[in-house]
Amino acid sequence: MALESSRAAFERAGRSIGGGVGSGLRSAMRPHPLFVREARGAHVWDLDGDRYVDYVMAWGPLVLGHGHPHVVDAVRDVATRMQVVGTGHELEYLAAEAVLDAVPHGERLVWSNTGTEAVQVALRLARAATGRRRVLKFARSYHGWHDSVYAGLAEADSDQPALPASRGQSPTGLDDLVVGRFNDIAMAERLLAEARERDIAAVLVDPIVSNGGVEAPLPDFLPTLRALCDQHGVVLVFDEVITGFRIARGGAAEKYGVRPDLSVFGKAIAGGFTQSAVVGRADLVDQVTAGVVHAGTFNSNPIAMAAVEATMQVLADPTVYDRLETVAAYFDTTVGKVLADAPEGGSLNRVGSLLQYVPDGGGTGLHGTGGRWDAILEGMLRRGFLFMPSGKVFLSTAHTESDVDATADALAEVLA
Ligand SMILES: Cc1ncc(COP(=O)(O)O)c(C=O)c1O
Repeated sequence: MALESSRAAFERAGRSIGGGVGSGLRSAMRPHPLFVREARGAHVWDLDGDRYVDYVMAWGPLVLGHGHPHVVDAVRDVATRMQVVGTGHELEYLAAEAVLDAVPHGERLVWSNTGTEAVQVALRLARAATGRRRVLKFARSYHGWHDSVYAGLAEADSDQPALPASRGQSPTGLDDLVVGRFNDIAMAERLLAEARERDIAAVLVDPIVSNGGVEAPLPDFLPTLRALCDQHGVVLVFDEVITGFRIARGGAAEKYGVRPDLSVFGKAIAGGFTQSAVVGRADLVDQVTAGVVHAGTFNSNPIAMAAVEATMQVLADPTVYDRLETVAAYFDTTVGKVLADAPEGGSLNRVGSLLQYVPDGGGTGLHGTGGRWDAILEGMLRRGFLFMPSGKVFLSTAHTESDVDATADALAEVLA
C-alpha cells in the first residue's frame, strides 16, 4: 500500500481543519490517518483504491460492519421523506421501544447525540435525584472529552484532586470528581461509606475498562458497587458507550447480571449513525418532566431513529452474538499465537469482541500505545490492515476467519 494519496490528503486537510482530523484522538494514527473513499463490511478502500481489513470499525460503533443493508435501507427510506423535524415522529418511540426491549433494566430513555453528551445528561439526572454534587469515576476510564469528567490519572487514595488531562480545561470543573481505582473493592467501600460526607451523587463506571487496556471487572466488583450504591443512596451509572450492544445485546449489564440505575449508550446503538441515549429507571429519567433540562436540536432525528430501530432489529437475532464471539475467539487464538511466537511480541486481552494489544511489560494508552505497537501499526497498514493507535481491536459480524488468517500472516511478516 503506497499511502501516497492519504499523506497528501492529510497535508491538505491540515490547511483547512485544525490538526487535519475531525476528532483529536485520530491524530495518533501512524504514520498519518488513512483517508478512505468507501467502506463496506469489514473493509475500507483508500483514495488510491487499495483495500484494507478494518479493525478500527469507526472506533467501536460498527458491530455489524460497514453499511449493513437493513440499516442502510431504513435510513434511505426515511431520508427522502424527512431529515430533521424538531417535533414528534413515530420513529422516536419505535426506536425507544426497541432499545428498552434489548436492555434488561430499560424502563425509560432520553435521546442525545454523542456519548459525551449523554454522560452529562446521566450525571444531571443523578444529581437532581440525590441533591448531591460529586461523581466517583475510575482511573483509566474515558467518559468523553467534557471538562467535568476528562481527568488525569490521580486516584482517590493519593488524596490529590482530579487533574485536568487537557490544556484549556477548567480545573474547577473537576472539583466534582472523585477518582477511584477499577476493581479495587476496598477503595470503593471506603469512598462510598462516606458518600454523604463526600457529597457523592453517582458512581460512573465503564463496566469493562474499554479504553485503558480492556480489563474485565472482577466477579465481585460490579455487584459490590450495586450494593454500596443502594446502601448509601448513590445512583449507579454504567457507561456502556463501547460495551453496549457489543458485549451482549443488553450490554455489560446483561453479561454480568448487574442492573445499574442508568446506562449510557452511544456508538453501536445506531449502527453507524449518530445517536446516544440514557436508559434506565423511569423515576430517574422522568425527572425531565420535573425541572431537569435535557435538550438538543438533533436529538432523535428521523435518520438516526431509523438507524437505531433497524440496528435493534438485526441485533435481536442471537446468532449475531454467537458470530461475534466465534470470530473474536478465532482472532485471539490465531493472532495471539503469532504474538506469542515472536520475541517480545506482546499479547492480547479480550472480552468478547473487544480486544487490546498489550506490549510485554504492559502499558496501553487511549492516545496511543506507542513502543512496539507503533511499528506494528505502520507495518500492518502498509500490508492492508487498519488498526487503532491504542492497540484496541474491534471486530464485527462482517469479519471472516479468512480476514483473520490474512492478518496473522501479515503480522508474522511484520514481527519478523
Ligand atoms: C466509554 C466511553 N464513554 C464515552 C465516550 C464518548 O463518546 P463520544 O465520542 O460519542 O462523545 C467514549 C468514546 O470513545 C467512550 O469510549
